[in-house]
Amino acid sequence: MNKKILKIRTPKGQYSIIVGHNTINDTAKYLKPLLNNNRVFIVASKKVIKFHKSKLLKVLDNNNIETVLVVIDDSEKKKNFNTISIISNTLLKKGIDRNDLLIAFGGGVIGDITGFVSSIILRGIKFVQIPTTLLAQVDSSVGGKTGVNTLHGKNLIGTFFQPQIVIIDTIFLSSLPKRELLSGYAEIIKYGLIMDYSFYKWLVKNGNKVISLNREFLIKSIYNSCKNKAKIVNKDEKEKNIRALLNLGHTFGHAIESINQYKKNINHGEAVSIGIVFALKLSQELKHLDNKKVDNAIKHLKDIGLPTSLPKSFKKNTTLKKFVLAMKKDKKVKRGKINLILLKKIGKAFITNKFPEEKLNKVILSQLK
Ligand SMILES: NC(=O)c1ccc[n+]([C@@H]2O[C@H](COP(=O)([O-])OP(=O)(O)OC[C@H]3O[C@@H](n4cnc5c(N)ncnc54)[C@H](O)[C@@H]3O)[C@@H](O)[C@H]2O)c1
Ligand SMILES: [Zn+2]
Repeated sequence: MNKKILKIRTPKGQYSIIVGHNTINDTAKYLKPLLNNNRVFIVASKKVIKFHKSKLLKVLDNNNIETVLVVIDDSEKKKNFNTISIISNTLLKKGIDRNDLLIAFGGGVIGDITGFVSSIILRGIKFVQIPTTLLAQVDSSVGGKTGVNTLHGKNLIGTFFQPQIVIIDTIFLSSLPKRELLSGYAEIIKYGLIMDYSFYKWLVKNGNKVISLNREFLIKSIYNSCKNKAKIVNKDEKEKNIRALLNLGHTFGHAIESINQYKKNINHGEAVSIGIVFALKLSQELKHLDNKKVDNAIKHLKDIGLPTSLPKSFKKNTTLKKFVLAMKKDKKVKRGKINLILLKKIGKAFITNKFPEEKLNKVILSQLK
């Protein structure tokens, strides 16, 4: 089982997500039907180019597809309008036209900004994702959200724009630092918790094989994640209702990241993992989950290597008031009411803004102790 294909239906048509090992070798085969001329434009991450340049370029070259490569520093800090402007102007200078196709080759930052550029340059050109981080493979490359950060917050400007195809190759993960890998795993376990109990059980049993990059297990976990995300996004592309379930652990997690000023000692997946613990505990407080289920889920996160509690330095400088205030700044908050994603049971999430405040406070205080 080296390759799986997922068909995604969107309001504007259908596209495929290819998941496998060495799928990159078939890139030309996948691209040919999409090309109007024999060339592609690629926006790539500097790091990914360092490790994997030849894997993509050789295959295109061997198939006589001309490439125009734009390499950028893809730190989160550079995910802004300035970078959009630099990329767009470079592409235009290099002669991109409406028949061309733009490939994002990198993690979620590259995917989000390249998707955004594709959706606005020449009023929209074809776009392909080749995600190279686990997080991008299981989350950001699915669903069609593009965007950049602003002075007022993350991802506040962007578009909904679907790719023509997503080519996921687990070979890229071999160069990914362990913490980045775990960050992606936090999103994988999230799908199990919110909507797929049998996937959750499978992950508890096999998560360590996923993290140690066992090919078969990795492919299955990525495929199941994309399938679950697609199921939700197909029903609610523009996040009017159930798409919010994908934010399990994120309202808490975003508060943690923002109080921590996005410093590298807590990355996104780590904040989500700790945020999931908050959500599990509150679901337990509200009598949806029993202690054993909650303890088992937390144990799994720990066993995999994800953090389940806040660092001491964070606790020392954070009060309940500061934490709640940070939660209220999250863009998912509507009219000052905190919307939380909680679990009815493992494998079934729900959204609510009706919960006793003292229960929320109790959980936050216990995590800040
Ligand atoms: N569009 C969406 O629906 C959606 C969903 C979730 C997250 N996101 C966005 O995704 C971004 C996070 O994505 P990410 O976690 O992939 O981070 P990232 O793109 O910043 O990549 C993490 C780091 O890994 C490096 N890298 C990428 N691929 C590599 C590889 N194969 N080997 C070694 N290093 C590699 C990158 O250069 C970077 O330093 C955030 O900006 C977030 O807002 C978007
Ligand atoms: Zn996330």
